Amino acid sequence: MIIKTNVNIKKGVINKAYLPYLNSQKRTQIFYGGSSSGKSFYVAQRTVIDICNGGRNYLCVRNVKNTIKKSMFNEIVKAIYRMNMKKLFKINHSDLEITCVNDYQILFAGLDDVEKIKSITPKKGVLTDIWIEEATEVLENDVRQLNRRLRGKSKKRKRLTMTFNPIMKSSWIYTTYFKNWDDDSNHYEDMHLSILKTTYKDNLRFLEDEDIYLLENETDKYYYEVYTLGNWGVLGNLIFKNWIVKDLHAEMVETKNGMVPLISTFDNFKNGLDFGFSSDPAALSHTHYDKKKSTIYYVDEIYERELTNDKLGAMVKEMIGKQYVICDSSEPKSIRELQVMGINALGAKKGKDSVNFGIDWLQRQTIIIDIRCQNTKNEYMQYKWKEDKDGNVLKVPVDKFNHIIDGTRYGYEDEMTYGRVKAVAGF
Ligand SMILES: Nc1ncnc2c1ncn2[C@@H]1O[C@H](COP(=O)(O)OP(=O)(O)OP(=O)(O)O)[C@@H](O)[C@H]1O
Ligand SMILES: [Mg+2]
Repeated sequence: MIIKTNVNIKKGVINKAYLPYLNSQKRTQIFYGGSSSGKSFYVAQRTVIDICNGGRNYLCVRNVKNTIKKSMFNEIVKAIYRMNMKKLFKINHSDLEITCVNDYQILFAGLDDVEKIKSITPKKGVLTDIWIEEATEVLENDVRQLNRRLRGKSKKRKRLTMTFNPIMKSSWIYTTYFKNWDDDSNHYEDMHLSILKTTYKDNLRFLEDEDIYLLENETDKYYYEVYTLGNWGVLGNLIFKNWIVKDLHAEMVETKNGMVPLISTFDNFKNGLDFGFSSDPAALSHTHYDKKKSTIYYVDEIYERELTNDKLGAMVKEMIGKQYVICDSSEPKSIRELQVMGINALGAKKGKDSVNFGIDWLQRQTIIIDIRCQNTKNEYMQYKWKEDKDGNVLKVPVDKFNHIIDGTRYGYEDEMTYGRVKAVAGF
């Protein structure tokens, strides 16, 4: 049985900056630029419309599986509701699968889920589209492999769409696709490639005054360039360089009982929690500390906005069980609520200069981040010192990309205080 969908989109539903691209058949399509410019929402809308029209199946990809539900999956669901198309879709929230009544599908996978990526097959027809969200997180080779998934007979042109903020000019994306880019223009096209740069100014209609205010009043030059103006950034004055990313689940170590996964030997867990709700996420840093080697291993993370304390508590409990978690002491009520749920939550002591003191201590550790902790990695990659107007570095961190890191500082307070007491005693 063939069910035809009748897509009737009202004028004005789609942001006009993106309208010319709605039917673009270019093989590679890039939508990049500043924050809140409507990139993700547009591609989500296009995905829904394409699926309704039939003949296309989408695979929506991010570097790490656990970031998908709260980003692209939710955006697509939101787009379905906003366009009044709920009746046309079956949305499977647990398997992350969206199926249209015409049997074409929107599927989701993280690049860390290699098996799923390999085995993904839509219910009807072949995969025609891949959308990579936050593509700067993804390795060039992974994109090459993904591109190969676009094969098989189909009447529709195959397409790869990427969305991202231009966080680092040294990214392979810049080197590969921006050779002919002209900074005086906001778009580029050749036979196979289209690039559109947008900023919040292209999306004013859908933004709150506060979003606009924050973007326009950003004082840090790097963040202003990247997130307000949408220009390729050059990261400097980074606070941490002492970190690397590893697949901790694949790392093996020799023990008395032979080779075992390194992660299974972890027993000195240190947890820290930074509260947040609307603009800032709640962030849990779940780590193991190898004290002898001064090495911190990031094992897992929570990083989510709009979490009420009961939901946050349930997630924390699932991740750390009866382990202690040191929390931001500015929210005693939240700490109490977590305790009532059976979590061993304590308030951080903080104290004078605790931010810089904690940073200084963390800089002297070796930091190893599991590949699944994407938000932790993003913070270490972008947490930076403030600069004055002349570009001189100030010994003050910019209050951004520091939620997991703040949590880590709380979680390691006892180690740091011990160090401080010892240093004083040794004088
Ligand atoms: N056509 C639209 N209709 C309704 N809301 C929209 C539309 N386009 C964008 N928005 C809203 O504008 C806000 C910013 O859009 P979006 O998240 O897509 O921006 P973005 O460019 O992906 O930002 P970032 O770079 O921060 O990921 C969101 O709240 C989104 O829901
Ligand atoms: Mg986005």
